[in-house]
Amino acid sequence: MAMTNSSVFKDDVLHDRVAIITGGSSGLGFGMAAAYQTLGAHVVLVGRDSEKLAHAKADLEPLGHEVLAFASDVRSYEGTTAVVDQVMQKFGRIDVLINNAAGNFHCPFEQLTPNGWRAVVDIDLNGTFNFCHASLIGLKQSKWGGRVINISLAQAASGWPGSAHAASAKAGVTALTRSLAVEWGPYAIRVNNILPGPIANTEGVKRLYEDRGQAEKELNRLCLDSFGHTDDIANAAVYLASEAGNFITGCDLSVDGGRWLKRAWV
Ligand code: COA
Repeated sequence: MAMTNSSVFKDDVLHDRVAIITGGSSGLGFGMAAAYQTLGAHVVLVGRDSEKLAHAKADLEPLGHEVLAFASDVRSYEGTTAVVDQVMQKFGRIDVLINNAAGNFHCPFEQLTPNGWRAVVDIDLNGTFNFCHASLIGLKQSKWGGRVINISLAQAASGWPGSAHAASAKAGVTALTRSLAVEWGPYAIRVNNILPGPIANTEGVKRLYEDRGQAEKELNRLCLDSFGHTDDIANAAVYLASEAGNFITGCDLSVDGGRWLKRAWV
């Protein structure tokens, strides 16, 4: 993949930050990893597919530091602690944790199997629990104040017909974010949600809208006239992790072209 190192941010804005990004080998996670790598962070990728991880590592390393890549499923607490242990052995701290790994598919609730429900809730909600829980020891050691960035969704509040599993899991993520923002404030750890809208060239948009012939309809739900780009989410994740985000915790940052608002009116 051709990579550039241009950014709207100062090139050392994340200097020396140790950042774990789950689901970091493709899509939004890879976009965030590339931005962090360009801006001076030590990037740690977590993903299920070793081959995809190896490609991502090879693409990212020319932009900055060595990239650590771990093949692990966020659903496994043991796998999660093994990743965190290795990061702690190498760096002794975790400055940023981005819980981005997610699964979703369109399926009316009537047809959803218990295992389908469980798969999505396990990845999205329990995976976020696993990494938050295991990483606290490292986040407490950050000299900048640890940052947790959870990827949630506006549909956590509205519900999502056809994706009740994902909406329910993300509602849990949003509640977890807010709970931890209060509990971990005394440790100077900031905990926030990014709520992405439809982002072009991602698995989510392909599965949920393009493959179902719903892309045009989804576009009409936005205030703006096009889908977002992975850089839009990456820039939000840089902002929250940088010193510009020092006084921000417990917030939902919508990066969705105004979809959350217009949906209520159209
Ligand atoms: N419609 C209905 N049920 C589906 C489905 C679909 N499109 N896709 C998967 N499921 C069900 C499976 O049938 C299975 O249930 P069953 O055992 O009762 O048949 C259950 O979900 C688990 O599926 P499986 O493929 O074994 O799970 P997995 O752990 O390998 O994958 C998923 C997890 C299901 C979330 C998979 O879609 C995935 O890995 N997605 C990752 C990428 C992604 O979703 N990106 C978009 C994010 S917006």
